[in-house]
Amino acid sequence: MLNLTGKNAIVTGIANNRSIAWGIAQQLHQAGANLGITFLPDDKGRYERKVAELVESLQPSIFLPCDVQNDEQIDATFAAIGEKWGKVDILIHCLAFANKDDLSGDFSNTSRQGFITALEVSTYSLTRLAAAAKPLMTEGGSIVTLTYLGGVKVIPNYNVMGVAKAALEMSVRYLAGELGPQNIRVNAISAGPIRTLASSAVGGILDMIHHVEQVAPLRRTVTQLEVGNAATFLCSDLASGITGQILYVDAGYEIMGM
Ligand SMILES: NC(=O)c1ccc[n+]([C@@H]2O[C@H](COP(=O)([O-])OP(=O)(O)OC[C@H]3O[C@@H](n4cnc5c(N)ncnc54)[C@H](O)[C@@H]3O)[C@@H](O)[C@H]2O)c1
Repeated sequence: MLNLTGKNAIVTGIANNRSIAWGIAQQLHQAGANLGITFLPDDKGRYERKVAELVESLQPSIFLPCDVQNDEQIDATFAAIGEKWGKVDILIHCLAFANKDDLSGDFSNTSRQGFITALEVSTYSLTRLAAAAKPLMTEGGSIVTLTYLGGVKVIPNYNVMGVAKAALEMSVRYLAGELGPQNIRVNAISAGPIRTLASSAVGGILDMIHHVEQVAPLRRTVTQLEVGNAATFLCSDLASGITGQILYVDAGYEIMGM
């Protein structure tokens, strides 16, 4: 049994009960972590209400907005976290965004703004949040982000998000190199395809899942809770020697050549 008692964990990216971040938050909570949840605010406060209701059972001691495109909000949120907790042990970066138009058809049609937005939200945000968390990780820490095979191999329709994930995976290595001397570990989980709000924007996501169910060694795709288990392991002392790595949680699909 993994024990995260006494660890303060920030979890970003919960939108609803299908979110991978929701699977991770549940498993971190089960392992005893004290949770801080951040959400993407919207004008009408719909996300806030929905996410607050969902996470209530996990009794988070922090619940704050954090739009990663808003530097002031990031700084205010991490200042409030520092004030309340004093230290952060775990940061889960589990968010991404690209315009739907850029997630189907020809990659060469990606617009300039679409490219910038996808990499700003999905890639740069890891570095920005790591910088905000770094001064609070005074006793070392673990940062985990979510990536996908489309950052390494060509997956139809994944397009600009594949470029964002490639840059995200390299960001993991650079951050791991920088933060290692402070005993802050940085890793990514490359998850198999799962039906979520974000993945439903990718053209042909159901076909991708069916393909994995036929081809992956385990003859299925993975669940949010399985990803949550791997994230909990990476955040625990059992993974104390692991940093800068991409861990595939994909029912084995990545090893297949044909
Ligand atoms: N679902 C899959 O098949 C799959 C596979 C591999 C990796 N991933 C990755 O997992 C992560 C989580 O995605 P998911 O599939 O659970 O979908 P999701 O839609 O549940 O989560 C995406 C989250 O990103 C948040 N977000 C978007 N823009 C934001 C912003 N500006 N500031 C703060 N938050 C913002 C949304 O609010 C949402 O909570 C993403 O990085 C995604 O690329 C997903």
